[in-house]
Amino acid sequence: MISQNSIAQVFETARVEEVIGDFVQLKKSGSNFKGLSPFSDERSPSFMVSPVKQIWKDFSSGKGGNAVTFLMEHEHFTYPEAIRYLAKKYNIELEETERTDEEKAQADTRESLYLVSEYANTYFQKILHHTDQGKAIGLSYFKERGFTEETIKKFQLGYSLDEWQAFTDDALGKGYQIEFLEQTGLTIVKGEKRFDRFKGRVMFPIHSMSGRILGFGGRILINNKKAAKYLNSPESEIYHKSKILYGLFHAKQSIAKEDNCYLVEGYTDVIQFHQTGITNVVSSSGTALSPDQIRLINRLTNNITVLFDGDAAGIRASIRGIDLILEQGVNVKICLFPDGEDPDSFAKSNTLEELSTYLNENATDFIQFKASLLVREANNDPIKKAETIREIVNSIAKIPDQIKREVYIQECARIMDISENVLFSTLAQINKKETAEASKSYKPAQPAFQVVKNEEQSKPKIDVQYQLERKIIEILMLYGDRTEEFEDLVMQEDEATGELILEPTKHEARVFEKVYLDLQEDEMEFTNPQFKVLYYSIIDKLNQDEDFSTKNFINQLDQDAASLITSILMEDERYNLHDWERNQIVPKEKKDSVPQLVSQTILSLRCHLIDKKVAEYKNETLKEDADLRIIIEDVKEYLGLKMLLSRKLGKVVS
Ligand code: CTP
Ligand code: MN
Repeated sequence: MISQNSIAQVFETARVEEVIGDFVQLKKSGSNFKGLSPFSDERSPSFMVSPVKQIWKDFSSGKGGNAVTFLMEHEHFTYPEAIRYLAKKYNIELEETERTDEEKAQADTRESLYLVSEYANTYFQKILHHTDQGKAIGLSYFKERGFTEETIKKFQLGYSLDEWQAFTDDALGKGYQIEFLEQTGLTIVKGEKRFDRFKGRVMFPIHSMSGRILGFGGRILINNKKAAKYLNSPESEIYHKSKILYGLFHAKQSIAKEDNCYLVEGYTDVIQFHQTGITNVVSSSGTALSPDQIRLINRLTNNITVLFDGDAAGIRASIRGIDLILEQGVNVKICLFPDGEDPDSFAKSNTLEELSTYLNENATDFIQFKASLLVREANNDPIKKAETIREIVNSIAKIPDQIKREVYIQECARIMDISENVLFSTLAQINKKETAEASKSYKPAQPAFQVVKNEEQSKPKIDVQYQLERKIIEILMLYGDRTEEFEDLVMQEDEATGELILEPTKHEARVFEKVYLDLQEDEMEFTNPQFKVLYYSIIDKLNQDEDFSTKNFINQLDQDAASLITSILMEDERYNLHDWERNQIVPKEKKDSVPQLVSQTILSLRCHLIDKKVAEYKNETLKEDADLRIIIEDVKEYLGLKMLLSRKLGKVVS
């Protein structure tokens, strides 16, 4: 684990505008920066970064947060990955804590394996570009395949010399240990002898989601029936075949943006697609997608389009694996290429426009695809048709969403020309069986990992209480630590008439104290649980800390809370962005009227609470044993209070 000290140091040092500036073109706009949202396609900028508050907000997607949440959203890093990234950017040495010796040794091993792989990657590229053999054999092969120089560099393709131990000798000479060369599989050790695993192959490095080298694929160049065409790194501490998707590092942004992921067979398909201009594409290296791989994609999108070559024999076998994808609640489409073509060859011989059009026109929903395929196969043979029904309903049964299941049943009934009832009862049978089998081991589907909740969506429509509670949080965050002069209208009894009157009195107070005391006076509690937690932690922090800083406070919060605060604070900026710039209206400078804002908010809240109370009384009167006389007295008192408050409010506002 990274020590808290180090994390704090990273937060202290990182500047949100610098971090985001590496990914988004930002322009200065008043005290903020703005740019085009990296999370959606837009023409006018609605993405804002506040250097003062050290937060960002994307008004087109509703996402927001600090430097770390940006990296988690945009680069799809985990929290520790984001911290490590920032540490690297700002040259901060991270201190690790709380690890047992065993864990340390394991982490050291893993780190060594990464380093060896990183080195091998540099080495293979150097051989490809800077040796005679590399250029004559490796580079010319890639060129012949139609890969451009740019593509070769982008995917860091390389070449391993056709010699028994050229790489191994080189790496040992550079001080890399044979132990790690062997564990990564780069070197095969047999007794005293050492061999380069990838001798004489062109090299495809395999990156992790965050861009580290995990392993390699190597393609042979000579025609040798005995040797495998492609050779991959063996399983190791860092290379787990079932948890890796080739191309994910280069595709993650566009998968999220396009909200779809193309799945192809191998390295060359991925690369050729990129070169043609379609970048949301990954490969599972020849096997059906594993649940871990589906989860990787699921972090980015809910939609997968599986691309198959025209070879019909393979299709039947391949579509079995797809039920696994359906089980995870992913929408699956299938796209077949014309006979004799695979994604690689098709992309190579077509323009981007042709390829996109082809994909759009031929991608078919998986269940519909399967149903049509099966119907054709059954070809009016009644026994086959019965099997077919079972098979298709089996797939439908895997879909977690009930509404989708029903739509599919209707759709398949139409395609297969049978009644919906037959399909529904088959589904019921399968469900019954599966429920019985699975009830013990049932695990609810994990929602896709989401860093930043879109708060706008979960917000009730017009909830006065919500708005006011939110406002109080905003006030505390922005002005809580200031000292201001408040004018309170204190209620007093007029000595002559006995009537209640308002007497203005002035006093100085820190804003948070004023808010806290006023709310306490009314025994007012936050109703929104998130706000309630925030409220007490802000008050706490302000109470302890002489120099309260918004940035430090946000950095201590968990993701959800941080995102909520960010939204609240940036709402304000949005006003600047949209209305001010568009209409040239200078917004009222809030800072000048903090006491007014505070009083106004608290009074409004009081009025609202009274309204609620009165409404409760109204309900009381409906009860059988209601004592109307008492209720009316109470309500009258509350209404009187409300009138006073409203008067007070009127004075404050004007
Ligand atoms: N593949 C693999 N292992 C194999 C064969 C293929 O991993 N033994 C993967 C590779 O990632 C390859 C993809 O499947 O990119 C497509 O296979 P194929 O067309 O056979 O490979 P190519 O290199 O395109 O060979 P060819 O030039 O003969 O088409
Ligand atoms: Mn091929």
